[in-house]
Amino acid sequence: MRIDIATLFPEMCESVLNESIIGRARRRGHIELHCHQIRDYTLNRQKQVDDYPYGGGHGMIMQAQPIYDCCMDVIGQVCAAGHERPRVIFMTAAGAPLTEAKCRELARCGSLLLVCGHYEGVDERVIEALADEELSIGDYVLTGGELAALVVADSVFRLCPGVLSCPEGYEDESHYNGLLEYPQYSRPEEWNGRCVPEVLLSGHHANIERWRREQSLERTRLRRPDLYQEYLKKVNSENS
Ligand code: ADE
Repeated sequence: MRIDIATLFPEMCESVLNESIIGRARRRGHIELHCHQIRDYTLNRQKQVDDYPYGGGHGMIMQAQPIYDCCMDVIGQVCAAGHERPRVIFMTAAGAPLTEAKCRELARCGSLLLVCGHYEGVDERVIEALADEELSIGDYVLTGGELAALVVADSVFRLCPGVLSCPEGYEDESHYNGLLEYPQYSRPEEWNGRCVPEVLLSGHHANIERWRREQSLERTRLRRPDLYQEYLKKVNSENS
């Protein structure tokens, strides 16, 4: 899997994805990440990437040309390196919501190009010209697309072979099967007067499985009634 990020802050993206599990997987060659400076593609001496919005209004808009030229150059580099043409995704607050199902779909692509906007937005014409899709990481507004692109890169990379030391790990995680994860405990058995639930100490695997399943269902029902209803619908349609 190869991910490219087009951004005004390539060092910020590089530094985050050089750490921890993703950093190690990169160094071991399981995944590939390249960050590109959009400003390098400007045609003016000031290297300005933004301008005032037509029709008036607050703030500045990122212009189409530097983003377009950057993305076309990156697409050429990705194809020349023998990868398939990347899926081009603009990170915007107006995009479709990122979900675990979407991450799984993206992890099946050979390569992605994540484009980060800044200022008050991006000239719509470059989105029309290049975007396969727009994604949002939630119903709030960030100052730029970088944090959103990092969330996409992290959540997609962790699904790629070789990245997690225990690949079954993610099947238990919250959201993998549409439910939140059950609570987890480690040593000691008692901490500050709080005990680990008895069943987890019993060694009885069927009972532990059942307890975890119940906890997972109950947590989802209480904390995320929207996900719980979706889950019930899915289970009912599978059983009918
Ligand atoms: N850019 C600004 N806000 C964003 C969000 N919520 N998701 C993705 N990109 C964004």
